[in-house]
Amino acid sequence: MADNEGNIEAKNYNTDVAVKTDGFFLKGNAHADWGVQNRLARIFNAKSGNTVMLAFDHGYIMGPTSGLERMDLSIVPLIQYADCIMCSRGTLRSVVPPLAGKPVALRFSAGSTILTELNNECLVGIDDAIKLDASALAPMVAIGDMKFEAKTIQNLAQCADYTSRYGIPTLGVTAVGKNLVRDARYLGLATRVCAENGANFVKTYYCEEGFEKVVAGCPVPIVIAGGKKLPEADALELAYKAISSGARGVDMGRNIFQSENPVAMIQAVKGVVHEGLNPKDAYQMYCDLAKKA
Ligand code: 5RP
Repeated sequence: MADNEGNIEAKNYNTDVAVKTDGFFLKGNAHADWGVQNRLARIFNAKSGNTVMLAFDHGYIMGPTSGLERMDLSIVPLIQYADCIMCSRGTLRSVVPPLAGKPVALRFSAGSTILTELNNECLVGIDDAIKLDASALAPMVAIGDMKFEAKTIQNLAQCADYTSRYGIPTLGVTAVGKNLVRDARYLGLATRVCAENGANFVKTYYCEEGFEKVVAGCPVPIVIAGGKKLPEADALELAYKAISSGARGVDMGRNIFQSENPVAMIQAVKGVVHEGLNPKDAYQMYCDLAKKA
């Protein structure tokens, strides 16, 4: 209870000490709202500046993908190793323990499946994202899709409005259509369009040629998807090359949960992303951990 008598007079103003004006460790977000920075700092490790996101949202368009048939058995044991999880609200409520304690990049758009035309998506309700304490809103953006490009960019722009209103960052998720090539020109355009329309960070694919230009041309951090399952050594090399070219992390699914040993694999990926392990050492780490399991 405040008193109006007998209070000690304030005197520690430290007039000779300048107030620190800290920058923010993620590019393009130095002027973001406190809530946005706070949530980004839950997703990204402030020491390495990077993140290992575990993606298991594939079922929202693909159904029971290999490795995701029983997510209570395959995914829940992996969550403890991830910096952030990415999934749909259905999976979050039905599978992920509320005590998991990990930030959630919520799959925030939904629509057609692989059985019909992909990319015809609308947004999920913001009230639910707030209720679920989402740390990021993740709409899919189909740059170059003749039919749904504008609709999905409008979805992203709507998310950016939610970001301004509620302080929940937007993660632009670039989807590559069937007839589009994942080269630096396309990925550079797609990631830049996401950033220009308000994404706080962008998920895209790695490309061998010119990925550093994709990163440089995107004013906010990029995280890469793993794509289809590769041999473990190759997937670790992919992560290494992406980080070496400036990606700030991975949002990886199949190359972790479809691995021979997912627990070993996610730890080896963390070795690359946070500790700068080279692909050879990371693969050795994977083999050692897999042997012990
Ligand atoms: C599915 C997605 C996935 O989250 C994304 O593709 C990451 O998973 P993977 O590493 O398996 O490619 O956006 O719609």
